[in-house]
Amino acid sequence: MDLMKGAADAAELLSGISPIIALTGAGISVESGIPPFRGPGGLWEKYDPDEYGHIDTFHKDPGRSWEMLIEIIEGSLSAGPNEAHLSLSRLEERGIIGPVITQNIDGLHQAAGSRDVLELHGNARSITCTGCGRREELQDLSAFSPRCGCGGWKRPDIVFFGEPLPEMVLNRALVNAEMARGIIVVGTSGIVSPAAMIPEIVRRNGGKVVEINPVSTIYTDSITDVFLESSATEGLVALEGYLMGQVA
Ligand code: APR
Repeated sequence: MDLMKGAADAAELLSGISPIIALTGAGISVESGIPPFRGPGGLWEKYDPDEYGHIDTFHKDPGRSWEMLIEIIEGSLSAGPNEAHLSLSRLEERGIIGPVITQNIDGLHQAAGSRDVLELHGNARSITCTGCGRREELQDLSAFSPRCGCGGWKRPDIVFFGEPLPEMVLNRALVNAEMARGIIVVGTSGIVSPAAMIPEIVRRNGGKVVEINPVSTIYTDSITDVFLESSATEGLVALEGYLMGQVA
């Protein structure tokens, strides 16, 4: 489908309904230079997620986990928000969308100005010592060490495989999904639950689903009403134009 036609269809589907939420995944940050987890060039091609992404490895051998963690944090700190992040921020500003529920740990939605961001998997810039509990917000890695002065190992405040999601954040995301009449799903493979359930909850309650992704996902032929086969920036900027009435 032609992108502008698809964006017009998606805007027509979403116009006049409220609340609309967004669910984002790693794909929205690809154009900021942060690789996705799955697919070509994905982080899980380089690091085995069952090993490096699991909390058991961090407990057994924190230094091994930090081989990957430092790469993730470096990527987050050196990246800036792209037009897709900014588009969601503008849509929130205009009251067209409510919370952005994200699986991403890069903090780019907040950097783009989004105010109501639900970080289901935490934030890699926030670091806590597992020994003394001291917390720090990373701005750069120049003076950073994964070892604390107390001798303990630090960890980013993210959710490893094998860990529960932050309960308050997850509850808020599920409540918003239950109330949503529409959802814009951007840049997620839809593989990892409970985040992957969010669009399904919206759809089950009769809400409308717009999906933006260069390739189809498990949602596309099952719950997606309008699929914008595009990058996050192209798809969101086109959709925003119609939703904001900027495109006739
Ligand atoms: N624009 C939009 N989407 C894109 C782009 C782009 N430029 N490039 C890639 N994508 C899509 C891919 O097609 C894929 O569907 O982004 C998605 C990325 O999928 P994943 O790498 O699986 O990322 P995500 O869905 O966020 O993973 C969920 O899995 O490993 C865990 O905790 C990790 O939060 C992560 C979770």
